[in-house]
Amino acid sequence: MDTRSQWGTRAGFIMAAVGSAIGLGNIWRFPAVAYENGGGAFIIPYLFALLTAGIPILIMEFTLGHKYRGSAPLSYKRLNKKTEFVGWWAVLVAFVISTYYSVIIAWAISYSVFSFNLSWGSDTEGFLMNDFLNRTVDPGQAGSLVPGVLIPLIIVWIVVLGILFKGVKRGIEVANRIFIPALVIIFLIIVIRAVTLDGALAGLEAFFSPDFSKIWSGEVWVAAYGQIFFSLSIAFAIMITYSSYLPKKSDITNNAFITGFGNSSFELLAGIGVFSVLGFMATQSGVGVDEVVSGGVGLAFVVFPAIINEFPGLNGLFGFLFFASLVLAGLTSLMSITETYIAGLVDKFKISRTKAVLFGGGTAAIISLLFATQGGLYFLDAADYFINQFGVALVGLVEVVLIAWILREVKNIKAHADEVSDIRLGWWWTLSLNVITPIVLGYMMFDLFRQNLM
Ligand code: PHE
Repeated sequence: MDTRSQWGTRAGFIMAAVGSAIGLGNIWRFPAVAYENGGGAFIIPYLFALLTAGIPILIMEFTLGHKYRGSAPLSYKRLNKKTEFVGWWAVLVAFVISTYYSVIIAWAISYSVFSFNLSWGSDTEGFLMNDFLNRTVDPGQAGSLVPGVLIPLIIVWIVVLGILFKGVKRGIEVANRIFIPALVIIFLIIVIRAVTLDGALAGLEAFFSPDFSKIWSGEVWVAAYGQIFFSLSIAFAIMITYSSYLPKKSDITNNAFITGFGNSSFELLAGIGVFSVLGFMATQSGVGVDEVVSGGVGLAFVVFPAIINEFPGLNGLFGFLFFASLVLAGLTSLMSITETYIAGLVDKFKISRTKAVLFGGGTAAIISLLFATQGGLYFLDAADYFINQFGVALVGLVEVVLIAWILREVKNIKAHADEVSDIRLGWWWTLSLNVITPIVLGYMMFDLFRQNLM
């Protein structure tokens, strides 16, 4: 008998996949990456990467999970005995990410509370570094735990592990069905308010004005592929795990398109929101938009608080909604990364979900404490750098080269996907996996090693 957990509904699966994809990467990474890489012209490499790597790999991962019905290591093992390691490698990357991704969500929880009183004051950078993180730069003196981070971090893990305890259908699916619609509504409110701000137009103009000269540079294409990989959560073992819970009769190809386009639509919306707000800030301070552009931690925890200070009315509420959207987007992604290794443990060691959550999730939670210390930001930067450079794209490359070139599985995967899906896969899919993606990713890795080693 098949005892593997299953999603209750198709919509539940799609929400969970979209929930994994939409995360901090959409909100704070995409706008800055697009701006720096040609603005409106970035849409060309971006769409190319979405259609030749993002959606094709998503279809491939959905098929692997659906066909082999296992977490990533088990699915890879069933594909070929020798390839189980690829699954574990991806699982390890996911595990490491979860240890610091959780910490950023914890910051966002604290900041959503700070919003009400604008507790960060006028020096938002000083507040982040000194008052909030109580930072020391020397990793040798990581120092003690910072309570402002520790308490919300404990909350994050209790929520995520609590949801995972409840299982796929009653936990992950239910949570995503609540969190994702809530996130979309909150985000629409933010964007509508943002585009009606003074100066929003200047921001949007800066964001969308195309710099076509950039699209001839290899770097821009690398950035587009990198963004698509991170943003769609592919090559992290996640999508294989989630699709292993699909009932036998489930569409694959159509679901992958919905997930891919859903994620990109949210990303575009975030770009519009963020740049409208940056335009407002630039207009207030009488500078060009290019002087206030930023991404990552700086955007969310330094620039945004400063903007919220200047906000015309209801600034506490706007701040709260912004940080709440980071929390919701982050939690649904963290659930998916954590489920990846929990499923890996359950399949490998035949232990119960409860034990796997306690052991796997518990270990990640304990390691995450390292990032809640005074030297935490230093460790966080180092981990994030290492993962982005050597984790994601490299696993992706190994994955496609293995499947397309070494095992020559593309045909079989297509046959399986076509059998269950409404849409049949065309030549573009085969060409993408067999030729375009391995070559582009290979070039990306080559470029990376060249930059790091020379
Ligand atoms: N896709 C998520 C985002 O855009 C990030 C993520 C990466 C989530 C890897 C899970 C795993 O932020």
